[in-house]
Amino acid sequence: MAEFSLPANSKVSTGKTWRAASDAKSLRRFRVYRWNPDDGRTPRLDTYEINMSECGPMVLDVLIKIKNEIDPTVTFRRSCREGVCGSCAMNIGGTNTLACIRHCDDVQGDVAIYPLPHMPVVKDLVPDLTQFYAQYASIEPWLQTRSAAPTGRERLQSEGDRQKLDGYYECILCACCSTACPSYWWNSDRYLGPAVLLQAWRWIADSRDEMTGERLDALEDPFRLYRCHTIMNCTKTCPKGLNPAKAIAEIKKLIVARL
Ligand code: SF4
Ligand code: F3S
Ligand code: FES
Repeated sequence: MAEFSLPANSKVSTGKTWRAASDAKSLRRFRVYRWNPDDGRTPRLDTYEINMSECGPMVLDVLIKIKNEIDPTVTFRRSCREGVCGSCAMNIGGTNTLACIRHCDDVQGDVAIYPLPHMPVVKDLVPDLTQFYAQYASIEPWLQTRSAAPTGRERLQSEGDRQKLDGYYECILCACCSTACPSYWWNSDRYLGPAVLLQAWRWIADSRDEMTGERLDALEDPFRLYRCHTIMNCTKTCPKGLNPAKAIAEIKKLIVARL
């Protein structure tokens, strides 16, 4: 049985290896984080050898193959398989990304797959996002108005105002950015993190929303907003190519401008 050594200080032990009968050229090894709260064991990395000539090209294809054909106990989330639901977010080859749009060829060597970092784990690759969603709810992510609704039509928006939401409305709330942010790692109980702040900006920037002042009041706080120290991991890792750091900078600018 092949074994892969881990850093001496790692709390994750080496687990089992599933070998594949295949020529070396099409063989890849996937090292998958495993932890089951019900078995009392410490976390481990199990290794699965996959013949890539019999598997789809994406990391999610590999995980589905492992679950269907090799080890049905491997647990992960997925739904859309095309980068729009955000549920397959995980750490692949050291980067937070979406397994369904991460090509195996883009990861060098053995492919290490962990859950999103610094989050409680439910099981294997499934992080507990309860707090993340509660923080999202705290910014009241829906259109809020004071004026009477126009009769017979929707609240309209000019093309230019609509374009101000580009780069923000596309966020799928996968949490890759927040879980890549060191400030969020250390203060996730009080700092909202880049994903939620980008969402907050999406509503502040919306010309139809009439609660801008209240939204800024709720964010103006040493922890909720100002724990962002422009580290930029968030923007670097976003699998949708968005720029949460820019959204945070826009919020800060608007708070300064109204002083
Ligand atoms: Fe995911 Fe990007 Fe949205 Fe962050 S900004 S939650 S990384 S889509
Ligand atoms: Fe974190 Fe991004 Fe700010 S990584 S510190 S939210 S710029
Ligand atoms: Fe939906 Fe990957 S399965 S984003």
